[in-house]
Amino acid sequence: MDSIIVTGGGPLNGEILIAGAKNACLALMPATLLSEEPLTLTNAPRLSDIKTMTELLQSLGAEISTLDEGRVLVLSSHSADNPLAHYDIVRKMRASNLVLGPLLARHGKAVVSLPGGCAIGARPMDIHVTALEAMGAVIELKDGYLHAEAKGGLKGAVIDFHFASVGATENVMMAATLAKGTTVINNAAREPEIVDLADCLRRMGAQISGDGTSSITIEGVERLHGATHPVVTDRIELGTYMLAPAFAGGEVELIGGRIDLLQAFVEKLDQIGVDVTETKRGLKVKRRSDKLKAVDIVTEPFPGFPTDLQAQMMALLCTAKGTSVLEEKIFENRFMHAPELVRMGANIEVHGGHATVTGVDKLKGAPVMATDLRASVSLILAGLAAEGETVISRVYHLDRGYEHVVAKLRGVGAQIKRVKSNG
Ligand code: EPZ
Repeated sequence: MDSIIVTGGGPLNGEILIAGAKNACLALMPATLLSEEPLTLTNAPRLSDIKTMTELLQSLGAEISTLDEGRVLVLSSHSADNPLAHYDIVRKMRASNLVLGPLLARHGKAVVSLPGGCAIGARPMDIHVTALEAMGAVIELKDGYLHAEAKGGLKGAVIDFHFASVGATENVMMAATLAKGTTVINNAAREPEIVDLADCLRRMGAQISGDGTSSITIEGVERLHGATHPVVTDRIELGTYMLAPAFAGGEVELIGGRIDLLQAFVEKLDQIGVDVTETKRGLKVKRRSDKLKAVDIVTEPFPGFPTDLQAQMMALLCTAKGTSVLEEKIFENRFMHAPELVRMGANIEVHGGHATVTGVDKLKGAPVMATDLRASVSLILAGLAAEGETVISRVYHLDRGYEHVVAKLRGVGAQIKRVKSNG
């Protein structure tokens, strides 16, 4: 198993190219099941999660080839005839549940394993199931699998989500493209990845409006055709690297960065004392002074502050002047990075969904352990500003969502390396 060693220092200078979004690509790939014609995705990220989704779709009978060193995915499910998503693949990645809607729409039948436990929360699928049942599906849980059937196909329905779930919005939107009649999703998720999926489905001939707002309308059509679609910029990778110069000083340009993808995050950076300016190629980031200010954070669905940047922001606030309170409202167990940051000398108290961070002068390097994707990168960022060496183990979590993290940070002057370890 690999570890990553970071030696604190800085300042950082240079540019980082931001990849296509993992969380968009994981929803775009199952859309291939909605048509017999090929779907080509450009600007695709090269990540282990994308490999897992490829493996899953191939097990369903899809053919997938890559071009341009994996940045282009060509997907065809012309002869995809298997409606069973097996536990052996689904347990590796929750997003596998995004084949449920497309399989039901294509075959009128789907057997999808429930993903099982997750480090950051229970993550049930009740919203997905209730919505598809409202569209006429009969769904039963048997032996850990959701057995879903829609004899005669799915029908349009008016659906009210009790929570603006990203995954449920994506599953239902895809299912509704081939349903009979009109579907309306109220309290839908508004994330940029939803808009990117709707754009792609429209390129395939779908009739969708309202994506990006809380109410999405889908007029079902007979069939969808092939298309080519560029994957939207990864706003979470973007936000992560925007913080690097805030930790270590200097100035970094994020190529492909867009403020509209991260408005709430950029507003918080401004309050903390970090400047973000737009450039021709993206965004430039640098801190206004060496000492940052404490700030309170509440994670919310888009356009609120993204939960996937909470860990990285907590790490930054560990050395800010004053006390910050972070409230995690999306997942019930997403503070597992806190005890690792405390090992580096941070002063953090966690009470349920609230964490109180009292700024200290400086963090100190230490051996720490990655517990999930975003927690692992928050420890790398903390290491950039800490005294001495930070050794992060279990970095396989990182490969799921960050391509070439060591090379990208090294490219702007960070002292970072990846080593094989016996741990
Ligand atoms: C997506 O997960 C992202 N994953 C997550 O990113 C992200 O944290 C999350 O949205 C919120 O922004 C992908 O896109 C692959 P949800 P998803 O359904 O779709 C509850 C990362 O780090 N809920 O919006 O699973 C659920 O338990 C990952 O890249 C129900 O109660 O998120 C959670 O508390 C982590 N019932 C909340 O809603 C349901 O049926 C948000 O879940 C569905 C969800």
